[in-house]
Amino acid sequence: MFSERLNRLPKYLFAEIDEMKRKKIEEGVDVIDFGVGDPDLPTPKHIVEAMKRAVEKPENHKYPSYEGMLEFRQAVAEFYERRKGVKLDPEREVIALIGSKEGIAHLPLAYVNDGDYTIVPDPAYPVYYAGTILADGIPYRIPLRKENGFLPDFDEIPSDVAKKAKIMFLNYPNNPTSAVAEKEFIKSAVDFCIDNNIILAHDFAYGEITFDGYRAKSFLEVDNAFEVCIEFNSLSKTFNMTGWRIGFAVGNSDILKGLLKVKTNVDSGVFQAVQEASITALRSDDSVIEGICKVYEKRRNVLVKGLKELGLNVEKPKATFYVWCEVPEGYTSVEFTKKLLDSAGILVTPGVGFGEHGEGFVRFALTRDVDTIVKAVERLKNIEL
Ligand SMILES: Cc1ncc(COP(=O)(O)O)c(C=O)c1O
Repeated sequence: MFSERLNRLPKYLFAEIDEMKRKKIEEGVDVIDFGVGDPDLPTPKHIVEAMKRAVEKPENHKYPSYEGMLEFRQAVAEFYERRKGVKLDPEREVIALIGSKEGIAHLPLAYVNDGDYTIVPDPAYPVYYAGTILADGIPYRIPLRKENGFLPDFDEIPSDVAKKAKIMFLNYPNNPTSAVAEKEFIKSAVDFCIDNNIILAHDFAYGEITFDGYRAKSFLEVDNAFEVCIEFNSLSKTFNMTGWRIGFAVGNSDILKGLLKVKTNVDSGVFQAVQEASITALRSDDSVIEGICKVYEKRRNVLVKGLKELGLNVEKPKATFYVWCEVPEGYTSVEFTKKLLDSAGILVTPGVGFGEHGEGFVRFALTRDVDTIVKAVERLKNIEL
């Protein structure tokens, strides 16, 4: 029998959606899948070539170090300085992760005791919640509302929760709402966490996927952030490397030590060949990231224009590869998802799958090419919403 903590994990709504998709495909429907948050584009060639060279080296076939190769951590520090103007000490303020998900899921094991709270946004990437449950903590959800630009209001957190909270997870640019955070908000999050002695765990997985010249802020850019903040980042979305499983955590060196202690006991680091290829990725010319963002920007323009023409309420995102679209009146997000699949063969993700405050929205991932998006919009024109 499963442990109690495993039984406490919420049912994964997305499994049900996958089942719906499978049935449609079996019926012969050409399903257009906007559900997947996984880039359709391949990893840039120069990174793949670096991997080929790295995999040939016998020294890379051994156990890697737990914290990551120093040269990888140096490349991360250079990347942060170049892209965000943030200075990091590669020896103390950077560790390698097996994807940012791994670090996010393990952080509560280092800092949460039985019955402690973590503060997690709603809607959100489900791992903040699940990681807390797996550490026997209690996730306290704070709503992200449209009228607040999908930023939480820290005044809504009861003081007894704030006192017993060990970690607050935030994520900007945000999955699923695609909202972004500016310095004033980030400063208020840092201040809140300093005042309440809470670790601020910022998930910056979409920090480079930005449009129209917009630059997403690292939380480490604001004053005093190094006192309380650990920032999770990843090569997955930035360089189309989701399958490679490499990310990193940066920020407060003491907080990183706790995470590293957990990791030392449960994993043995990232394959060095992957780290070497990632050094090449992080040192790429900035035009590589710009090229990737241009692709999503074009897709975003086509999809948002199409959805608006259909009368749907949707904002043009400045960042992430998601479009967060309000469902028309009379539908829940699951009902609208079913309607789109049944009537148009289009698969989206219902907002409620990310938390109850995701209700009223569906998420389109821009992981399909422009021609497919045009085809989807044409199909939508033919259904009654
Ligand atoms: C908000 C967010 N954070 C973290 C991740 C995990 O990415 P990875 O483990 O590939 O670095 C994802 C993946 O979809 C995500 O959407």
